Amino acid sequence: MANSSDIVWHDASVQRAAREERLGQRGVVIWFTGLSGCGKSTVANELDQLLNTLGCTTILLDGDNLRHGLCAPPDRLAKEHGEDFASRFGLGFAEMDREENIRRVGEVSSLFCTAGLITLTAFVSPYRRDRDRVRAVVESNGEKGDFIEVFMDTPLEVCEQRDPKGLYKKARSGEIKHFTGISDPYEPPESPELRLDGGRNATPMDLAEEVIASLRGRGVIRSTGGES
Ligand code: ADX
Repeated sequence: MANSSDIVWHDASVQRAAREERLGQRGVVIWFTGLSGCGKSTVANELDQLLNTLGCTTILLDGDNLRHGLCAPPDRLAKEHGEDFASRFGLGFAEMDREENIRRVGEVSSLFCTAGLITLTAFVSPYRRDRDRVRAVVESNGEKGDFIEVFMDTPLEVCEQRDPKGLYKKARSGEIKHFTGISDPYEPPESPELRLDGGRNATPMDLAEEVIASLRGRGVIRSTGGES
């Protein structure tokens, strides 16, 4: 058994400030949360493009994509690593699996943030406590203001009507268990830095522009250019 007192922090030679200076920007985590099908991945992608056009250095972590690798489900891991490993480290959608998913992704986001990247994430992240823990990790490795929670507020009816992957249909028929909004809870943020109204007819580009305006207001990007 590893004992945490036997694991000692090794200080990095290159400081965050030096990395940020070289990149000409400040590292932040822009954390999109919302129901499946609410549009968070689409808006995060638009935002990613806009930021790159402005000369920012970014990375985008997307829930569905991360679940193909770092946070893969057991059946994806079993072939390469065996059943025991897969059942221990593979992630599904039960409450504790999501907790671990968000913990892993939160730690990775924090690392990217300290590398000076504008880090965009798009995860359902339905539990307030899990999101708040990520906020605490990101801010403890940096400062207040490094974690920007963006609530993609799209009514369940709209998400279900869109049903881009046919998952709501499966959830309604009971084929998928623990489906957020149907058979599992979603806890909306109480005071997100930004709330995007996904229920009106705004395009993903309009919503991405709203995030850009908020980032300008927070001094993350300059009014005229890409860097702060
Ligand atoms: S989270 O809750 O742990 O944050 P994450 O964002 O990684 O979820 O993955 C959500 C994506 O997985 C959804 O966009 C959807 O495509 C898919 N998915 C499959 N099963 C479920 C489920 N039970 N609940 C929510 N999303 C699911």
